[in-house]
Amino acid sequence: MTPTIEPVTGTLGAEVRGVDLNAPLPTALGEALRAALAAHHVLFFRGQHLEIARQKQVTELFGPLLTLPYVVPMADEPQVIRVLKKAEERGGGVFGGNWHSDFSFLETPPVGSVLSAVTVPPYGGDTVWANMVAAYEALPAELKAAVEGRGAIHTGKPYGAAHAPPPDQRSGASIRMTRGDPEADRERVKPAVLTHPESGRRALFVNPTYTTRLEGLSEAASEPILAALYAHCIRPEFCCRYRWQAGDLVVWDNRTTMHYAVNDYDGFDRLLYRTAFAARPA
Ligand SMILES: [Fe+2]
Repeated sequence: MTPTIEPVTGTLGAEVRGVDLNAPLPTALGEALRAALAAHHVLFFRGQHLEIARQKQVTELFGPLLTLPYVVPMADEPQVIRVLKKAEERGGGVFGGNWHSDFSFLETPPVGSVLSAVTVPPYGGDTVWANMVAAYEALPAELKAAVEGRGAIHTGKPYGAAHAPPPDQRSGASIRMTRGDPEADRERVKPAVLTHPESGRRALFVNPTYTTRLEGLSEAASEPILAALYAHCIRPEFCCRYRWQAGDLVVWDNRTTMHYAVNDYDGFDRLLYRTAFAARPA
């Protein structure tokens, strides 16, 4: 089973063909898929229809399965999140509905995430990714200078006590968050530009959901710099947009991309299962 890797844009995302993820997963396939992920940042597998147990096994091809805080997992599957928005949930937000890298505020954020689509709307509900390596490499000199060697402050803003929504809005949606946790308000400094341990390539590592400011600058002073960085990163040249079909599986690298769940499907159910993985032991 030799996968065929077909890039979907000039900068990121590739469709993996010729692979049945329900068939045995030989070591060589794991190596090929990890190399493809390092090269393309996001991998799309069409028509896989994986059971949850199988999704966990496929996730482990990329790294050890993670149990994440703040999002309530499935009752019997602590490592699996049901990403569900029901047809009747209208006019609200959606899980992942702004640009972010998954849980970048954690001390050790997931290095990658996996989504498996069970139910998708007839149209809408796409996910968009931005390539933070390509964006970094193309940064104008003054913006590069603003982040070079600098830290960025991340906090779990949507989950923390300081920024938690009122109690009556905390459990309305299908995705249940454990909001109001003061631990999520803890500020962590991460390099604004990280070096990918496998590819050695450098990537911008800031996002508008969890990054509050640049180290050594106030939020007010950081805001125009971060806004300019984000506007640059989400230029269409650095992005790919995926139209989901039921049965699809998508794997991405959280260190080199940020992503955005487009909330344009009120009135339709959308259900995906999400797993996340840590770095592989050296
Ligand atoms: Fe996400």
